[in-house]
This record gives sequence, C-alpha cells and structure tokens, in this order.
Amino acid sequence: MTFNNTTSTIDLLLTRRSGKAKLMTEPGPSDEQLRTILEAGMRVPDHGKLAPFRFHVFQGEAQEKFGEVIMDCYEKEEQQKTDAALNKLINFPQQAPVMIAVTSVLNNARPIPEIEQRLSAGAACQNIMLAATALGFNVNWLTGWSAFSKGVKKALNVGEHDHIAAFIFIGSSDQDLTERPRPNFDDIVTYWD
Ligand SMILES: Cc1cc2nc3c(=O)[nH]c(=O)nc-3n(C[C@H](O)[C@H](O)[C@H](O)COP(=O)(O)O)c2cc1C
Repeated sequence: MTFNNTTSTIDLLLTRRSGKAKLMTEPGPSDEQLRTILEAGMRVPDHGKLAPFRFHVFQGEAQEKFGEVIMDCYEKEEQQKTDAALNKLINFPQQAPVMIAVTSVLNNARPIPEIEQRLSAGAACQNIMLAATALGFNVNWLTGWSAFSKGVKKALNVGEHDHIAAFIFIGSSDQDLTERPRPNFDDIVTYWD
C-alpha cells in the first residue's frame, strides 16, 4: 500500500509496515517534509511537559562522518572485531537518504517516573515513523551495536544513564512490504467484566 494525503488515519495505523533501510534510495523527504515529520515526533503525550527526547538528523556528509564516529567507537570498544561488522557499521548511517537518531534523555526538572519519560520517547519514535509513512516514505526503526556503544552515545550527548532509542531511516523504495505475522488479538486483549 502506498500512503498519501488521502489515506485515512485508520488505514495508515492498521496497515503501515516498516521497510528495510538498506533497500531505501532517494528521494528522501524535502526540508519541509522533514520538518513536518520532526514536529509530529514532538507532538506526543509527555507527563510534566518535559520533552525527554532529542532528535539528531543526519543527511549526506553528516551520515558519512557519523559512520566514521561509529567505526572509531567499534575499534575502541569491541573485543572481538570482524571486518564484516566494521564494514557494516561504517555504512550504517548511510543506508537511506535520512537518518534520525532519537535519544531518550531524562529530564529531572519534575519528579516524573523514568518509565513515563522513556515511553514518551518511544511515542516520539512512532510518531516520526507514522508521519514519514503518511507522507509516502519507507521507514525503518533500527538500533543494533551503535545504539549501545558508550562512545556513540557520548557523541550524541547521551549520558551514561540515558539511551539511544532509535535510528530511524527514511527514504523511498519499491520493496514489497508483505504482511508479517501479527499478535493474536485474543492473546493480547482482555475485556474485563
Ligand atoms: C526499539 C526497537 C529497535 C529495533 N531494532 C531493530 C534492529 O536493530 N534490527 C531489525 O531488523 N529490526 C529492529 N526493530 C524492528 C523493526 O523496526 C520493525 O518493527 C520490524 O521489522 C517489524 O516490522 P513492522 O514495523 O512492519 O511491523 C526494532 C524495533 C524497535 C521497536
């Protein structure tokens, strides 16, 4: 299914699928579309209005430079290095026209529980995914080695006790987004009486 301005919100929610970042090509979102996607990411439930998330946008040369940062971190931090993993990591940020790193950053200005702040960052990720999908793009939420590297976290201003929630890739692709198995409704839902 291709999404566009006339797709209903419910159709989007019930049929959206992730694409594979490595199959994405140009065009990515325009500057205006990207801003819309990021604004959608900010418009999430947020107990205490703490905005416990940050969005780091990588395009073009910035993606290349960030690949080098990841490679340096891998070389310093990993005990069992392989060339295959190294090659994959250096190219990781460049898989699609745009990569957005979403970080989950606790804000202690008010005593809001950590779990609530983390969930808000997750909601920001999903809003970004949905907005980009609604604009007709392929989207993929990945983590992997880079999301848990001390050095990569530091490069994204993420403290020791905070997290990289997502690397979200956005691009175009004609890949076949066939359905995957979904949870069984009755396994998940309990109607209480
Ligand atoms: C926090 C988080 C991290 C993820 N990291 C990866 C990843 O590193 N590699 C991967 O193949 N899928 C990862 N996924 C799963 C994909 O983003 C995607 O949800 C999955 O392929 C199912 O596709 P769907 O979104 O169409 O249901 C992650 C999902 C979440 C929520």
